[in-house]
Amino acid sequence: MTETILTETRGRVGIVTLHRPDALNALNTTLMRELIEALEAFDADEGIGAIVLTGSERAFAAGADIKEMAAISHAEVIARDLFSTWDRLGRIRIPILAAVSGFALGGGCELAMMCDTVFASESAKFGQPEISLGVIPGLGGSQRLTRAVGKATAMDLVLTGRTIDAAEAARLGIVARVLPADSLLEETISVATGIAGRSRPAVIAAKESVNRAFESSLAEGLLFERRAFYGLFATDDRAEGMAAFIEKRPPEFRHR
Ligand code: CAA
Repeated sequence: MTETILTETRGRVGIVTLHRPDALNALNTTLMRELIEALEAFDADEGIGAIVLTGSERAFAAGADIKEMAAISHAEVIARDLFSTWDRLGRIRIPILAAVSGFALGGGCELAMMCDTVFASESAKFGQPEISLGVIPGLGGSQRLTRAVGKATAMDLVLTGRTIDAAEAARLGIVARVLPADSLLEETISVATGIAGRSRPAVIAAKESVNRAFESSLAEGLLFERRAFYGLFATDDRAEGMAAFIEKRPPEFRHR
């Protein structure tokens, strides 16, 4: 039984819905723990091939829980290593697609950027308003945002705390697709279903290779990609995928 999230499965897709309606899904300690545990459980489930993470129409998440943080001292933040649990999200191997409506501010924007791709409704609002609280982004906002949008725009967003709409977020590269609010979740689940139907070793290799672009030099990234590509020739799904193309039929992957 969870307090702050809802989970369900749709075919081979795991869906996690952030659910703290009274706090615009602010990310408190309980939510962080419940969310990570749910993601890890889906990742460990061979029947699940992709995850959709979403919130409500009003808020994906309005940031870390300010009321909880207000009561914590400097010594406690360090002793508890307040946000270290989030590192586990980076170890999820199957793709996580964020479906964002409403506010994605502070830690909410950072959580969306921790996912592998972001689909947003026309109503979505992104921003890093921490500067107004006397702090800075603490869940990777100064790093992932800068890699996504470049220095000048990251400085603009982090230093002013201004909010941007979905269209601007898409133009800047934070959001992959902008969709109508009433079809956002279904379309995201449909894309996730497509991914979950592909060969799991290829999906994991694709995710690892794209992520490697953020964590290594170009030469190392290219080498990683080539090794991953060659490695997939050892899978029977590779043989099936190529044979199915030549025989003009849909592939039947064994390892999903
Ligand atoms: N933490 C705790 N509670 C929050 C919250 C947050 N981040 N955001 C909203 N809430 C609560 C409000 O306190 C309010 O609760 P009460 O009814 O009990 O007062 C409820 O959610 C509804 O919020 P509002 O009444 O403020 O709704 P609004 O529509 O008038 O405004 C908003 C919406 C613009 C998103 C506004 O709530 C807001 O500015 N929220 C804070 C955004 C923010 O600063 N986020 C960054 C947090 S710090 C961080 O995330 C650090 C990091 O990098 C990890």
